[in-house]
Formats: sequence, C-alpha cells, structure tokens
Amino acid sequence: MQERLKELQQEALEAVQKAVDLKELNEIRVSYLGKKGPITEVLKGMGKLSAEERPKMGALANEVRDIISSGIEEKQKVLEEEAVQKKLASETIDVTLPGRPVNSGNHHPLTRIIEEIEDLFIGMGYTIAEGPEVEKDYYNFEALNLPKGHPARDMQDSFYISEEILLRTHTSPMQARTMEKNEGKGPVRIICPGKVYRRDNDDATHSHQFMQIEGLVVDENIRMSDLKGTLDVFAKKMFGDDREIRLRPSFFPFTEPSVEMDISCKICKGHGCNVCKGTGWIEILGAGMVHPNVLEMAGYDSTKYTGFAFGMGPERIAMLKYGVDDIRHYYTNDIRFLKQFSMHE
Ligand code: DAH
Repeated sequence: MQERLKELQQEALEAVQKAVDLKELNEIRVSYLGKKGPITEVLKGMGKLSAEERPKMGALANEVRDIISSGIEEKQKVLEEEAVQKKLASETIDVTLPGRPVNSGNHHPLTRIIEEIEDLFIGMGYTIAEGPEVEKDYYNFEALNLPKGHPARDMQDSFYISEEILLRTHTSPMQARTMEKNEGKGPVRIICPGKVYRRDNDDATHSHQFMQIEGLVVDENIRMSDLKGTLDVFAKKMFGDDREIRLRPSFFPFTEPSVEMDISCKICKGHGCNVCKGTGWIEILGAGMVHPNVLEMAGYDSTKYTGFAFGMGPERIAMLKYGVDDIRHYYTNDIRFLKQFSMHE
C-alpha cells in the first residue's frame, strides 16, 4: 500500500510537470485528489491493516496528498505567469503607428458667429433675452409703431397663423416685450438672437427663415453717440481694428432717427471693388434711436428715457467674415461646407 501511494505521488508529479496549461492542470488535480481518485481508492483497503499500521498509512496518504497539491500549486503559478506573458506579448502596442483620426463634429458656423456676437455684447454689460417665434401681431408690429394698415408692414411679408398671430418677421418684438416687463424703469440693455420668418423666395441672399440679433438699450441720457460708439466697437471687434463704420440715414417705423450702418470693405480698403459693388462700403445692419411712441406704448416716459436699438443678420455677418457666397449653404448643411469651419483641422 505504501508503495502504491509513493507510485501515485511519482505519477502525479510527473503529470503535473508535463501539464501545458491551467485546464490540463485542473484535470490532474481532479483525477488524483478528487473523491473518486486513486488515493481514495487505495485508502479503502485500510480496513485490512493492523491497528498499528493504520494511522501510519493515514499519515502517509495525507503527506502524499500534500506533496501532490503543493506540486500543483507551484505549477499553477508558473502556468499563470506564462499566460500573462503570452497575453502581453500578443497585445504589444506599436507606439510608432499613426493614430486613428477622431471624427469629431464642430459648431455650425451660424452658432459660432452668434455666440461670438453674444460674448462681445455680454462683455459690454448686455444680457440675452429670448422670445417666441410665434408672435402676436401686437408685438411684431403695433407696439413697434406699425399700426394695422401701415404701409411699412409690406416691407416684411409675413406668415400669418390667424388675424392676430404670426411667425415673427424680426426679433424687434423683444424690444416691446422687454420694456413692458421692466414696467417703465431703466436701464435696459439686451440682445436677442433668434429665428425669424418672411415670405421671401429663397435665393443666394434671401431665405424664408433666417436669424436676427436685436439690440436694445434704454436709460436716461442715451444718445445717438452712444449708438455710434457701440456699433464702432462691435464692427472693429468683429471684423478687425482697421475697419471704419459709417451711418447712413434710413427709415424704420420704430426708430427716429433711423440709420443703416456700413463697414469699409476689407477687400479694397474703401477704394471700390466687386464685393462692395464699387462703393467701398458694405451694409451691415439697421439701427436708430427708439421712437418715443414705442417707449410710451411699452410704459416708458419718453421725456425722461431715451434709447437706441439695432438689428442685424448673423448670416450676412458670417458671409462677410468667412467669405460665404450663398445664404442657402447655412441651411442645406452639406458636410463639405460645415467641415470648413472645424476648429480641429
Ligand atoms: N427689425 C429690422 C428688420 O428686420 C431691423 C432693425 C432696424 C432693428 C432698426 C432695429 C432697428 O432694432 O433699430 O429689418
């Protein structure tokens, strides 16, 4: 019996040595040390032994078991280490390989220009106001000094939803809404970006839906020179310090006096070229001093308060800044167009 146990020990240790992977090692463990294994089988014959020999044989069996299982344990460590090394070798990274490009999106050029304009005015103490695109005729026209039947309403062909409700044709209604909310008190200093809608046929410079940014400042002692100074800062920050501005007399029912602002042409520096149609100037926005009627209708005392307002089209500003030649590019979202505004290339 003793010999048989020693034989088993020898056999098992040899098998352990030969094992090539953890699976095989586990099979050896089960077959030698398991309940149905040969050691258990040998010990079944213990009954035939004398009382003296029995404990010795038991101790020997335990010893053999311990030797086999520590052999297995050692081999297990070796095999585990081998497995790790193998895995590491198969996963080697070649750090000299070029990386795979990350396909990232970027802000839409219009979003970018609007955020730039917002930041610029926030820096001057303005806050951002947003209002409804489905607007009341009252705010879109009447409160802006455009009563029903006013001929200037035709300048902005409108999408009416009912007699009194329409898609706003400009962001100017936010002037009336903001002043009304402020209940006749100054100061007011807002810009209002948003979508507007007009019944225009789409072409290179027109779109039935486009963006506007409205500005409004109301306080005591606001003068035309404040408007001019503000617009000058805006133009220089947006287009470069070397750009000049000029104000031309114009007409808007909600401002008096009204002006249109031009900036000097970047291409020809004011000498005249085909971008500025030979004039040396490019029209940028409409502006003026808030009409007393507009102040009064919104609850402001027009003998105490004055204000200025302006309205601009970010599409046009982005067109000039980035050299875009067709407004429809902003809306058709051709990826080849949008990619040109990526900050990652
Ligand atoms: N709302 C005008 C338009 O859509 C633009 C405009 C002009 C806004 C003069 C103003 C302003 O606030 O003072 O054509």
